[in-house]
Amino acid sequence: EKITLSVIKADVGGLCGHTSAPEELMDACEFVLEEALDELIIDYYVTKCGDDVDLIMTHQKGTDNKEIHGLAWSAFEEATEVAKELKLYGAGQDLLSEGFTGNVKGMGPGCAEMEFVERPSEPVIVFCSDKTDPAAFNLPFYRMFADPFNTPGLVYDKKMQTGFDFDVLDIYQNKKILLNTPKETYQLLALIGNLETYSVKSVYRARDGEIAATCSADKLSKVGGKYVGKDDPVAIVRPQSGMPSVGEILEAFAKPHMVPGWMRGCHWGPLMPVGEDDANPTRFDGPPRIFALGFQLSKGRLVGPNDFFADVGFDSARKKALEMADMIREMGPFQPHRLSESMMEYSSIKKVLADLEDRFVPNEKHEVVDKLTYDVEDQS
Ligand code: 13P
Ligand code: 13P
Ligand code: MG
Ligand code: MG
Ligand code: MG
Repeated sequence: EKITLSVIKADVGGLCGHTSAPEELMDACEFVLEEALDELIIDYYVTKCGDDVDLIMTHQKGTDNKEIHGLAWSAFEEATEVAKELKLYGAGQDLLSEGFTGNVKGMGPGCAEMEFVERPSEPVIVFCSDKTDPAAFNLPFYRMFADPFNTPGLVYDKKMQTGFDFDVLDIYQNKKILLNTPKETYQLLALIGNLETYSVKSVYRARDGEIAATCSADKLSKVGGKYVGKDDPVAIVRPQSGMPSVGEILEAFAKPHMVPGWMRGCHWGPLMPVGEDDANPTRFDGPPRIFALGFQLSKGRLVGPNDFFADVGFDSARKKALEMADMIREMGPFQPHRLSESMMEYSSIKKVLADLEDRFVPNEKHEVVDKLTYDVEDQS
């Protein structure tokens, strides 16, 4: 019998600014989910990372189910009512469509779901983040499932020796490609090292196609004049028994990496692993952060959670992330702290630049080179 684990998130308002979603919003969501318990869903856990509310739900309706997505949408609508009443910042920020149309994808909320037969013991890890985008998982997914220096189980466990298949999404063109590691490691890295265009959507165990990980990466949809389906992602990973172990999965966050997001969604910054209670991004609206909740599923019941990154074992990762934050903050509005224009999220820099367009004059003192071509082929 198959169980579906759905993690659906939305930013429906912050207290104060974009730093945190207050209890009241989670209470409003819990009220809606409680009503659906036993009827539609088996179990649920509501949490928040920064200003994003995360609904973790188990059920037997499969992925992309209209009733489940509708339930999440109503929970966020209820919470938005509360957010408006409290005049929270950006009330209803991620509910960009007027009415629910059957699937939350492309409507603002982010969604990671997987369906599987519960193993004799079914540990799962749910990741929630704020101030970053789904490509933040490219590097950690690679470390977990393809890097033996992170995951020695790839070397020691016969079940993993045929590797993992990475489902990579081109978010602009809405196309996807499946690549196997270790066979196509270099081709995979050629794509997913580019965080602007490519996002790892899911990872499958190559031996039997069993789903191992998935995140809320989605095509960029234009809703209400804004590109959505992008930021503050969630992910689900299944550890143990022929998958990387819990510790190998968490180890992928022990060496913080730079991700797009942070202030105004316009800056590169280190992804800092924190406990659930420390997910209140504050300094320069950050730094970007992530927490990891471990559950055991028991016939769909969510037993737990275990708040993994609250462990002292991640203290030095936090210290390192803060040092990286100090270092890159010194760049101010200069690249590489600042994102390229095409990646900037909450900014009207294009208008600022458009205003300057007329003031540009030809630089006549220098010889005008008609066509500048570099031979970039095979320079090695
Ligand atoms: P224990 O000996 O604590 O059960 O740990 C087993 C293990 O595989 C840890 O990675
Ligand atoms: P959120 O995407 O978390 O709402 O943050 C927006 C922002 O502008 C942070 O500075
Ligand atoms: Mg916000
Ligand atoms: Mg947010
Ligand atoms: Mg956001």
